[in-house]
Amino acid sequence: MTEHVNHVQHPLVQHKLTLMRQKDTSTAVFRQLLREISQLLAYEVTRDLPMTTKRIETPLEAMDAPVLAGKKLALVSILRAGNGLLDGVLELIPSARVGFVGLYRDEETLQPVQYYYKVPTELADRLVIAVDPMLATGNSSVAAVDLLKKSGATNIRFLCLLASPEGIARMKEAHPDVQIVTAAIDSHLNEHGYIVPGLGDAGDRMFGTK
Ligand code: URA
Repeated sequence: MTEHVNHVQHPLVQHKLTLMRQKDTSTAVFRQLLREISQLLAYEVTRDLPMTTKRIETPLEAMDAPVLAGKKLALVSILRAGNGLLDGVLELIPSARVGFVGLYRDEETLQPVQYYYKVPTELADRLVIAVDPMLATGNSSVAAVDLLKKSGATNIRFLCLLASPEGIARMKEAHPDVQIVTAAIDSHLNEHGYIVPGLGDAGDRMFGTK
């Protein structure tokens, strides 16, 4: 991946996303679709992982077979909606290390404030994939990447379902080295910071809260 944004236009991703956007899609179906899309997006975000070979024996003969090289990658969920993407990706990459970043917005300063932070060791040696379904204003995503870099991460990708042009611009300005993988780039943010047309509040829709 060399582009700053990888917009995944695979027909299955686009079809499933349309179902997720619809307001009458149930919580159970929304969650299942998110799991399925997360695995298709995981395929894209890991497409150029470094490989090496390992000597193995098939029932017929020995061969040098391809295997992933380097340290186990780290998945970092930006709470709480990130957990919806995390589950599916983790199913596909079960040996990944997992971290969590919890941020809330201070209503006076409007700045993200950290309330939880736990990430795997040796982040400098790992590909770090931060996951959050919605790249909206970009404030919390940028803050999460700031924290990951403070912990030593140098190779970070950002995996989301929907991105706004504003969020992409904000991330590009703050962290031009972080590649964004997204299923869609929507029109704009509304005055409440929601992505339009979007899918509403991703956390509420996946957890059935309001
Ligand atoms: N977070 C959401 O869940 N939805 C949006 O549209 C924006 C941020």
